[in-house]
Amino acid sequence: MTSVTFIGTANPGFAPYAMEELRRRFPGSSVSGLSGETFRFSPGVSDTEEWLKEIRRDEPVFLRHLFPLDAEVPLTDDPGSTADAIVAYARTLADKVNGRKVAVQVRKAVNSPFPFTSAEARDIAAGVVREAGGEPVLQDADWIVSLYASPKTLLFGCSEPRNNLSDWPGGAIRFRREEGLLSRAAFKLLEAERAFRLPLDRFNNALDLGAAPGGWSSVLLDRGLKVTAVDPAEMDPSLKGHPRLHHLKKNAAELSFPPGTFDLLVCDMSWDPHRTCRLVSALSPALSAGGSGIITLKLMYRKPFQTLRELTEAYSEHFDVRRVKQLFHNREEVTMWVRRKP
Ligand SMILES: C[S@@+](CC[C@H](N)C(=O)[O-])C[C@H]1O[C@@H](n2cnc3c(N)ncnc32)[C@H](O)[C@@H]1O
Repeated sequence: MTSVTFIGTANPGFAPYAMEELRRRFPGSSVSGLSGETFRFSPGVSDTEEWLKEIRRDEPVFLRHLFPLDAEVPLTDDPGSTADAIVAYARTLADKVNGRKVAVQVRKAVNSPFPFTSAEARDIAAGVVREAGGEPVLQDADWIVSLYASPKTLLFGCSEPRNNLSDWPGGAIRFRREEGLLSRAAFKLLEAERAFRLPLDRFNNALDLGAAPGGWSSVLLDRGLKVTAVDPAEMDPSLKGHPRLHHLKKNAAELSFPPGTFDLLVCDMSWDPHRTCRLVSALSPALSAGGSGIITLKLMYRKPFQTLRELTEAYSEHFDVRRVKQLFHNREEVTMWVRRKP
């Protein structure tokens, strides 16, 4: 595989940071904005497979999704020529898709003249996939065919799901509104569980700092954990009396617990991240050695790289910092996974 160009996507407002992060990490690369949260990126390496391995091993914080750019054609609002372009690209994939499961993912920039809905364009490409002996699917695909309609061009790519960093279109992962889900915040924990490959049901006893109204607590209870929820605010009435939930209606800074009480600490306090770090670090003895922490870090100062460097250093005193990632459900924040040092 020779050096290719990728189409990258970040959270709204964070594309400049995703681009800067890639520029810093891969000095020979070139990056340029495409539209909104989407950009072009050439790593400038001769071995793209190796580069992808490295990206998967140590995912950039702000890069949510990427796909390799195979073809690019000018875009107009004419349905006939646009459908022809989609069909022509899909036909180039005939050998690849034969006998395989194929997801077609279509996205368009808000200011793109693209004349189809995503579903219509997907159906056009899926028809060609079917003709070529492939099976169009929505999830668990062998190949993902990506189509991005920018303001001026139509960009196409085809890749294995793992090389897109996410098998959701543009990394926009959606969870079903599970019954009993108490707040949107719960999606952050569900997404962290998947992104960090950290099944929450492996833990037994969780400390949830800044727990109200109880979205994260309810996910943990749902996974069978015992939960100590700390928040001066009220928890949702539906959680009252839950046999595995203990609500301490207090400021987390006032608390201490016997060493090794918990094997999981989660913290979503939406507070100054440096103060949160001091608070979590002070409570770190309550977490058993090797126990995990999932912590939301608010990016308040418009200097995310400096903030993340400082916080990584500060957390490293008591924890191994395993991953820091801006999840799709994070807004002006990122999520960190740490493990308590022995
Ligand atoms: C974004 S909400 C948490 C949402 C929660 N994770 C959920 O899923 O429902 C932030 C919470 O942190 C709490 N909080 C802020 N500072 C705190 C502190 N020092 N100690 C305990 N809770 C705190 C607030 O009262 C608020 O309820």
